[in-house]
Amino acid sequence: MEKISALVKRRGFMYPGSDLYGGLANTYDYGPMGAELLRNIRDLWWTEFIQKRGDIVGLDASLISHHKIWVASGHVASFADAMVDCKNCKLRVRADHLIEDVLEKNVEGTTVEELDKIIQDNKMLCPNCKKHEWTKVRKFNLLFPVQLGIVEGEQGYGYLRGETAQGIFINFKNVVDSTRVRLPFGMAQLGKSFRNEITPGKSVFRTVEFEQGEIEYFFNPQNQNWEVLFEQWKKAMWEFVVGKLEINQQNLRWRTHGDKERSFYSKRTEDLEYNFPFGFKELWGLAYRTDYDLRQHIQYSGKDLHITDPITNEKIIPHVIEPAVGINRILLMILCDGYTEENNRIYLRITPKLAPFKAAVFPLVANKEDLVDKAKSVYDELKVHFMIAWDDRGNIGKRYASQDEIGTPFCITIDYQTLENNSVTVRFRDTGEQKRINISEIKDYLHKALV
Ligand code: GAP
Repeated sequence: MEKISALVKRRGFMYPGSDLYGGLANTYDYGPMGAELLRNIRDLWWTEFIQKRGDIVGLDASLISHHKIWVASGHVASFADAMVDCKNCKLRVRADHLIEDVLEKNVEGTTVEELDKIIQDNKMLCPNCKKHEWTKVRKFNLLFPVQLGIVEGEQGYGYLRGETAQGIFINFKNVVDSTRVRLPFGMAQLGKSFRNEITPGKSVFRTVEFEQGEIEYFFNPQNQNWEVLFEQWKKAMWEFVVGKLEINQQNLRWRTHGDKERSFYSKRTEDLEYNFPFGFKELWGLAYRTDYDLRQHIQYSGKDLHITDPITNEKIIPHVIEPAVGINRILLMILCDGYTEENNRIYLRITPKLAPFKAAVFPLVANKEDLVDKAKSVYDELKVHFMIAWDDRGNIGKRYASQDEIGTPFCITIDYQTLENNSVTVRFRDTGEQKRINISEIKDYLHKALV
């Protein structure tokens, strides 16, 4: 993890948040490479699940939302972690993570009292100052409250959303009434969520501000078997991660939540886990949320959210299956899975679809005007269609090394032969091999590599 963290900082993927002012816990800023990688992940998710399917529509709801939404959803009462403070050095940690790290046992779903007892019985030490001087374990709500200045009283009191899902549930009827959707259908949302996480994360694995890609797939349980749908979604998620993101299957597994661990709203939850350098951890959750959320919003808002089933003509409240993924966790997985050290070189073996730059263009030397002009014309033509890097600094070896580390799949060099016959050298990131092709073929070549 240390090597990956060093690479991402040195190559401009991400930096600690508020770095200039000493940092702000659990926040990160994404640099030029990180911003491109995130954009490519988002685009691919949207293309595969919204554009290509046809039974899922998109949504972009507000990040700030009425506090009653979160009362209705159950988050105000139950969306909390158990925390404990070291009285000596003031370190604050999540009690379950402290126990998991030290005793290597999963304590998801354990009560506050039980966590307290485990910490005391095992005389657990603070990982920072090595003292055993803990406060009592207590619950800490993860939602971020906000107060709108322009609105008086209760109406001005809201929360930054703790999941994108609620924006979907509260707009469910708006979408049904304003579009042509028919059951079964999904509503999808991509965007930031906020959680007051108290444990320092491992890179961007767990941060206070992060992006989610969530789908609520609505169906009538009377004419559709939820277990069949659940399996179909597992297959779709696996295909996305293995087939589209090209992640090594050996590093993936499914894990089913037990009764104690499962969220209050779910009848079944399975996590697709990735083997991060710090162990198998959740990448993507799949939950059968039943009609819990729509029922809660009917009760709390007093509005009717029933819809007519197109087959039975009955008024029903649909059930949902929810695949929910973190875009930043996908990014971290891609960096971990792609990081390769081989023959004294480091490169990021990531699929060209996701690479921040699809190709880099170099003039062989920077002080020959005709070479630079020719290279510029190739760069100018390609950059209209793809993200292309330009580099004319240092020797070719150094330029290759820096492109390898940001995962650029192809380096195109314009040399003296180019001036004679319009051919360029294409060098491949993963093998280091080189091949000559004609300038007129490059565009097609890149298009094919990106499918
Ligand atoms: N609507 C259901 C829901 O939010 P979740 O398991 O809490 O479920 C879904 O979150 C996904 O969001 C997770 O699988 C993870 O990828 C991502 N995620 C959750 N909390 C995160 C955090 N603090 N930082 C980064 N990603 C997070």
